[in-house]
Amino acid sequence: QTDQAFTFVLFGGTGDLSMRKILPGLYQAHRDGVLGKAGRFIAVARAAPDREGYLDWVNSHVRSHVPKAAFEDEAWQSFLERFDYVRLDATNPEDFHKLARAVGSGEGVRVFYLATSPSLFVPICRSLADNGLSERARVVLEKPLGYDLKSSRAINDAVGEIFAEEQIYRIDHYLGKESVQNLLALRFGNVMFEPLWRREWVESIQITIAEKLGVEARGDFYDKTGALRDMVQNHLLQLLSTVAMEPPLSMDSESIRKEKLSVLRALKPLPLNDISKVAVRGQYTSGVINGQQVPAYRDEQEVPPDSNTETFVALKAEIENWRWAGVPFFLRTGKRLAESKAEIVVNFRPVPHSALGPSVLQTVGNRLVIQLQPQESIRLYCLAKQPGPGMQLQSVHLDLEFDEFLKSSRMEAYERLLLDVIDGRLALFVPRDEQEAAWRWVEPILEEWSRPEKSPKFYSSGTWGPAAASAMLAKHGTTWLEEE
Ligand code: BG6
Repeated sequence: QTDQAFTFVLFGGTGDLSMRKILPGLYQAHRDGVLGKAGRFIAVARAAPDREGYLDWVNSHVRSHVPKAAFEDEAWQSFLERFDYVRLDATNPEDFHKLARAVGSGEGVRVFYLATSPSLFVPICRSLADNGLSERARVVLEKPLGYDLKSSRAINDAVGEIFAEEQIYRIDHYLGKESVQNLLALRFGNVMFEPLWRREWVESIQITIAEKLGVEARGDFYDKTGALRDMVQNHLLQLLSTVAMEPPLSMDSESIRKEKLSVLRALKPLPLNDISKVAVRGQYTSGVINGQQVPAYRDEQEVPPDSNTETFVALKAEIENWRWAGVPFFLRTGKRLAESKAEIVVNFRPVPHSALGPSVLQTVGNRLVIQLQPQESIRLYCLAKQPGPGMQLQSVHLDLEFDEFLKSSRMEAYERLLLDVIDGRLALFVPRDEQEAAWRWVEPILEEWSRPEKSPKFYSSGTWGPAAASAMLAKHGTTWLEEE
């Protein structure tokens, strides 16, 4: 809950992200009463002609993205009342006079949320400064920040000339997820996991973010971006660094950021001339999702029919430090896959000497599966004796469903992060050095995949991606969790 007075300005107010995540998050924060009374919202876009037109758009496009259980008519109406609207072309500095008038000189912090293409970040920040709006301001930059290391540096340099680092909130909404925070609690609040959480006991780790969703109406953005920039450089590497980091001294932003950065810096550089050994690039073709036939990526709106943009990535990463040397981390993400889920699988090594006799079940038996979404759960696979004569082993599991224990309602990622910006908490945002370390690591893949003759491997919608992703794991004597 904040008592902070604020003006929250949302650039890209009619964009896909605003529709799906930011406005529903803001609504929930409003409904939950955590935003106090002393705050107002200004949406900025080109599409809607005026405030009325904007509110019509919100009513017809955003409502359906608010979870049903969270929707209350009265709260929705009072949420809409808090909005002003400024029609503005972000590339036209003149238009910012209108925004300056709307923001006025009122009390409190000014939050500028740039849910726009990264190419607009610098022009917007400059125009804000030219109109006296950078004082008392915090600027939120959506991902992907830039297109590669060079462009992200250029943006960071230019934005850094206008705003101090502590005014810049680089958002990665995965860090705001309750389940991702819970990973820290699981690792550092329990004595039984941490001693095993290292190369001596862990054979491999898998991190998956899978979606059934296709590119929807975002073809134009997505085709220029691809899954590597959209998901790997940020969400997947943030999960990786949370899973692999050393125990922080405390939960303050400095301690956590320091340990995560060490992981990103320790990532083994990818082999420039041998990317195909460690990275699989896929693209969906048509197929069946939820019983419905869905089109191929190349047939999606605003996607060129010969596009080579990847909608699936599988990677092998290694971390060169004492804890993890030699342990493969398999990362995977894709659209139009068989399921929607985010999951971490820790495969432990077989026991050093099996007094119980050789057993093919050893690996299946020693495994921890942490599901982050759609359900938050932990499943610990163990080996047990099959009842009856002799000593046959079988795999059994212990299950923990967090919802059963933690009944209180969860905060959505965007709701939490928006509140953190208003209150000035930086811990769950990505500092410049972390972000650049992540870009540096993916750079060789970007380079390899930018060659026009390199085409992706195709997979049918509704499957688990191209066969090459399974072959990559087979070389290490393992399989993706679903393939067993
Ligand atoms: C966004 C990506 O950052 O994350 C989208 O741009 C993706 O392409 C989304 O669909 C997934 O987030 P979540 O929270 O639904 O898993």
